[in-house]
Amino acid sequence: MDKLIAVVTGGTRGIGLAIAEALVKRDASVAITFNSNQKAAQKARQKLESFSKDEQTILILKGDTGDSDVAAEHYDKIRKELGLVNVLVNNAGIMPQISFDEITVEDWNETIRVNLNGAFYWCRQVVPDMKKEKFGRIVNISSIAARGGGVVGPHYAASKAGLVGLTRYAAKELGPFGITVNAIAPAFIEDAGIFTQWSEENKATLKEKVHVPQLGNTNDVVRAFEYLLDSPFVTGVTLDVNGGAFMI
Ligand SMILES: NC(=O)c1ccc[n+]([C@@H]2O[C@H](COP(=O)([O-])OP(=O)(O)OC[C@H]3O[C@@H](n4cnc5c(N)ncnc54)[C@H](OP(=O)(O)O)[C@@H]3O)[C@@H](O)[C@H]2O)c1
Repeated sequence: MDKLIAVVTGGTRGIGLAIAEALVKRDASVAITFNSNQKAAQKARQKLESFSKDEQTILILKGDTGDSDVAAEHYDKIRKELGLVNVLVNNAGIMPQISFDEITVEDWNETIRVNLNGAFYWCRQVVPDMKKEKFGRIVNISSIAARGGGVVGPHYAASKAGLVGLTRYAAKELGPFGITVNAIAPAFIEDAGIFTQWSEENKATLKEKVHVPQLGNTNDVVRAFEYLLDSPFVTGVTLDVNGGAFMI
């Protein structure tokens, strides 16, 4: 593939921003989306533009990943300004911690809508172009919660396990077109999401769950992403990036 043209949903912070940065460093044109945090979006723009060359375009789009019309509008803009997308990273996600005792139908629907439906909406947008081009890389950011249930709640675990099913089905149907579809299941990434707010004392409790001396960081997820990006013979897999935390 001559030039990478990528979309990273939820690319303004944490794991998504680290993946977007890696793509920019590989001379890709990159569109990132976000939901509401304008300040983070502005900082992300500065960061990504500081690495990009004249021939690269960085596009930052505000809108809800869990809305199929928004995905369609965003893709229309991306096609016009960047060209046909050949890399999709379904990363945007929410993780409100709610137990079975407290969860409402609305809570359940909201997390499934953003985390799972959003990935499906974006796949629908990019797949026809990837099929035409006979090349594509789709990477869905799942979670250790898909494997062991996790601690966020039933809504989150189900949304992330749903991504694994979507990954496997899509990998089978799209493989013959040169499109690989894989997932990454991270855990305890200390420079992303909720863990950035945790004290060292609280993080010590997480360290007890992993089997290596340190917690993960966004570079660990980026390495997994780049492996999948560069691997035409790897499809339908879920890479665990969790310090072995899935083992008892
Ligand atoms: N951090 C971890 O240890 C960990 C572990 C396992 C899995 N994950 C998964 O990895 C992914 C990234 O997590 P993170 O920790 O990097 O998260 P983060 O730092 O909270 O960043 C989340 C990103 O997603 C965007 N986003 C949230 N809801 C959205 C929506 N409805 N529409 C569009 N964008 C939306 C956010 O935009 P705004 O800033 O505008 O809200 C932000 O750019 C998530 O899917 C998460 O479940 C993370």
